Amino acid sequence: MTAQHTLPPFHTQHSALSLPWPVDWTQFFGSTRPLVLEIGFGTGTFLEHLAATHPDKHLVGLEISNQCLVKAERMIARHRYSHVAVIHSRAETALHHLFTPASLDAVYVNFPDPWFRKEHSHRRLMQRDTLDAIVSRLKPGGEFFLATDIRDYADMAADLLADTPALQSLNDGAWSPQPTPGRIVTKYEAKAHREGRSCYYFAWRRTEVPVPELPVIKEWPMPHIVLESPLSLDTIREAFAPFHAHDGDIHVGINEVFRGRNSLLFEIHASEPTIEQHTALSLSPHSGAGPGSFTLQMTTIGHPRPTRGIHLAVRGLADWILALSPEQSKIRNEKLADGE
Ligand SMILES: C[S@@+](CC[C@H](N)C(=O)[O-])C[C@H]1O[C@@H](n2cnc3c(N)ncnc32)[C@H](O)[C@@H]1O
Repeated sequence: MTAQHTLPPFHTQHSALSLPWPVDWTQFFGSTRPLVLEIGFGTGTFLEHLAATHPDKHLVGLEISNQCLVKAERMIARHRYSHVAVIHSRAETALHHLFTPASLDAVYVNFPDPWFRKEHSHRRLMQRDTLDAIVSRLKPGGEFFLATDIRDYADMAADLLADTPALQSLNDGAWSPQPTPGRIVTKYEAKAHREGRSCYYFAWRRTEVPVPELPVIKEWPMPHIVLESPLSLDTIREAFAPFHAHDGDIHVGINEVFRGRNSLLFEIHASEPTIEQHTALSLSPHSGAGPGSFTLQMTTIGHPRPTRGIHLAVRGLADWILALSPEQSKIRNEKLADGE
């Protein structure tokens, strides 16, 4: 087989934005088997090892680095593995959107957050919300494995885990200085060994203690508004200044406007607790209607999903356009969800 044949076709690329929410993993893999997740697989050495040693399980790897994803996809194609898949997603997004409660048999996290500083707590993987999401998605009896070479990180993780009644350590203390049996050495682990740093290996099991309910986030409808305004696209564009809208913990920024041939494109950023999206909304003359009638809708730029944040952006932008000429503007119809 030539190298070219080992390259996976592009359509094998999976992302949290292109998969159904939640994923039916039995349908995805074509059979039902225990489901194992590795978060931040990096070079994929550990995922490849899991794949070789667990042919009877389904393995899902999450990464945010494209380079790592392409490498892992090549590994999967080279071995012709049909029980392994990699997904472009932040762990937080995948755990909330792609998996249902009590669906995972094991979760592995190896050497996360290498530049860990206590003050960078909001960006790190091991934090209360993400650990709660991991615990929610683990089955009772399911296992959580974490390895780190940073002592402060190990102490922080030990405190978090001690405060998690639904997990129980499989070691005498929070961690073991010895690798969990069956492990292989990952790239970061090898670096730690070369540089003389100790590693801390956590192995915890989900107990029968109930966990706080963590909802499965379902798809929202495609947002769409038809509005009437006497203003031209150019006048609306000239009046534009960036603005923000928020609803509880959802924040959206309407950052920039661009003039297309027959439309305006508004660049937006929507930040929600479980997902960040960067996309554009379009405002264009409503087809089949007379002058002064416009459609405001989501575009496919950035492959967005119609979340609450995107609905909030559409609502905020429509309100802003109406406020430019309140007496002569109105909404003709809308497909927009408000609140939960
Ligand atoms: C220090 S590397 C460790 C890689 C590998 N696990 C190892 O032990 O060699 C951390 C990896 O986690 C990925 N990562 C960081 N934050 C992530 C997140 N929120 N969700 C998924 N992957 C993440 C990074 O892209 C990187 O590849």
